[in-house]
Amino acid sequence: MQTTIGTDINYAAALLQKGELVAIPTETVYGLAGNALNDEAVLKIFIAKNRPQFNPLIIHVASFDQLNNFVTYIPAKAKILADAFLPGPLTFLLNKKDIIPDLVTAGSDKVAVRIPDHPLTKKLLTKINFPLAAPSANPSGYVSPTSAQHVYEGLNGKIAYILDGGECIVGLESTIISFDETEKVIVQRVGGIALEEIEKVLGEKVIQSAQTHELPDAPGQLKSHYATHTPLLLGNVNDLINQFPDQKIAVISFKNNYIHKNIIQQYILSPSGDLEEAAKNLFKTLREADSISTDIIIAERLPGEGLGRAINDRLNRAQHIYK
Ligand code: TXA
Ligand code: MG
Repeated sequence: MQTTIGTDINYAAALLQKGELVAIPTETVYGLAGNALNDEAVLKIFIAKNRPQFNPLIIHVASFDQLNNFVTYIPAKAKILADAFLPGPLTFLLNKKDIIPDLVTAGSDKVAVRIPDHPLTKKLLTKINFPLAAPSANPSGYVSPTSAQHVYEGLNGKIAYILDGGECIVGLESTIISFDETEKVIVQRVGGIALEEIEKVLGEKVIQSAQTHELPDAPGQLKSHYATHTPLLLGNVNDLINQFPDQKIAVISFKNNYIHKNIIQQYILSPSGDLEEAAKNLFKTLREADSISTDIIIAERLPGEGLGRAINDRLNRAQHIYK
């Protein structure tokens, strides 16, 4: 299959209507979209990404009002958060209606729904009469794409079209939340909306699910995801450089410049120490560091607050498993 890149929303809509796949820009990362109500289109997504079918997909809709078509119940707090943050990088996990195929939710009775904030994709969603199932548009296990070129590098030949909406402005996937029986918010994945922001709007603490807590330095236990091909090590940069004295090294730091003869390339995520800027640069930087010829990539953790939590979560998952 020939993969083309362009900005033709009508063409993208026509392909989706036919059950084909289109990569779409969002404010977080590019998504690999198909008609969420069409089993065959959804199956194509899993195949193109080589994604295991037990890993469910987020559906994307144009407006909060449309949620009623796809979920059985909307908690009052979801509405409050929607008013504060949507369209934007916040995903709700809610009880699904039967119209959502089990393939989308991997058999769960909950569906993840979000309203993305990107002009092209917002327009696209108004031209079609179905929601879009869209995981990040990368081969399963690799770094998420934040540009059309990133998508092309990973999925060329596997999808019909890439809708080019430029570089993603947030650069981290959406924050995913669910609600417990008492409608307390549980954060299932840290992402583009910081926990502190949600807590400020609701005036109460959120609950962090186990997988969102800062992970210890025990990469052997980690499921590798967002993995670079060049092994990535996370921790104190100077200590790690000293542990690997014979290696050519790329360093990814928050704002500091490290100097050592073994450092071939240094990437600073935000010279001014701005977490939003660092988030926007993270995946692009991981890809760049992975594309040059070094033996290892050494990255440091960022402050564990605001978007720093989500950045650290992605770096943790990118760590190489050294035993
Ligand atoms: O920002 C984003 O959320 C991007 C853009 C494209 O919208 N999408 C994204 O999708 O990050 P993906 O598939 O790469 O990550 C979705 C995560 C997965 O970890 C999946 O397990 C979880 O959401 N998820 C989706 N549906 C779920 C469900 N029904 N129950 C529990 N987890 C779910
Ligand atoms: Mg993903």
